[in-house]
Amino acid sequence: MTVVDIHTHVYPPTFMELLRSRTTVPYVRTFPDAPDSSRLIILPGEDDPSTPSTSRGRPIGPEYYDIAQKIAFMDAHKIDISVISLANPWLDFLPAEEAGAAARRINDDVDSICAQHPGRLYAFGTLPLSAPAEVVVEEIERLSKLKYIRGVIIGTSGLGNGLDDPALDPIYAALEKYEQIIFLHPHYGLPASVYGPRANEYGHVLPLALGFPLETTIAVTRMLLSGVWDRFHNLNVLLAHSGGTLPFLAGRIESCIKHDGHLKNHGKTEGRRTVWDILKSNIYLDAVIYSEVGLGAAIQASGSDRLMFGTDHPFFPPLEEDVTEWHSVNANYAAISASFADSPTGEQDVLGNNAVRILKLA
Ligand code: URA
Ligand code: ZN
Repeated sequence: MTVVDIHTHVYPPTFMELLRSRTTVPYVRTFPDAPDSSRLIILPGEDDPSTPSTSRGRPIGPEYYDIAQKIAFMDAHKIDISVISLANPWLDFLPAEEAGAAARRINDDVDSICAQHPGRLYAFGTLPLSAPAEVVVEEIERLSKLKYIRGVIIGTSGLGNGLDDPALDPIYAALEKYEQIIFLHPHYGLPASVYGPRANEYGHVLPLALGFPLETTIAVTRMLLSGVWDRFHNLNVLLAHSGGTLPFLAGRIESCIKHDGHLKNHGKTEGRRTVWDILKSNIYLDAVIYSEVGLGAAIQASGSDRLMFGTDHPFFPPLEEDVTEWHSVNANYAAISASFADSPTGEQDVLGNNAVRILKLA
């Protein structure tokens, strides 16, 4: 049996240099009250001066950039192959004129990291989305020739106006043409106001547990409503965190579309592909949802042949010292095992066979 982790991040050395050179979010730095510990500050609002410097962002060590640690983590958790991706916020923040060269540098860096561990590492590439669309299209074409690249990871902002922006059409067309899957991953969460005035008493729970999945759900629903999949029938998207809440909310989304007078008046309720159709033909889901309940919704919505194991390493490490097996990983393994108690082949498909087939890893 082959186990493949399709949701696992790195910040390659070229990206670490970039983060260390910056003083506004996203950045990596040490603070005077803890000079021996670097902190990774990436999420919007994380460097609010009211937060003590030792609890801003999260500690960052070699597990984020040293590929030997990724391999050790894989070995400790019986993972044969990892499809690594740059972690958020990718290159979204770069000035337009720097993005193309940065993407080429980082993608080459990641491809050569994979080459050091043939058979064990593949990767999703990164797109220079702050650059003009033609620069992005050129990188998609270049990525299709890199040996270990199997798609692209993007956030929800697109070229700055979200994934329902018609300016993305040449990019969607190129991804379709070069058969590159999009790994869609959240970063921005929801506006800070929804977390309320006591938000900083609750650590990262509200933005990570709820902001991230809702951000993904809204981004995909906007793609659906704008007809992206009516124009690009073969555009494939792998959704992080088992689709955010899309599998659970798909029925409500469809019902709201059917009952919307504005859409009806504009002829948009008929002749369109439904969310159920897209969930079963264009969407793939990871199995990073930590419970059988969420996984059950993902299986029902997209099918066990479209679901792939992931860990989100190096995020969500155990808080205890000296623990080699991560709770977060075991929770995902346990949910898969419980969901397929009567179907060992279904379990093996989700753990690895689906990824080998869908991402052509063999
Ligand atoms: N936190 C992040 O910022 N990114 C992840 O992928 C997971 C947790
Ligand atoms: Zn992730």
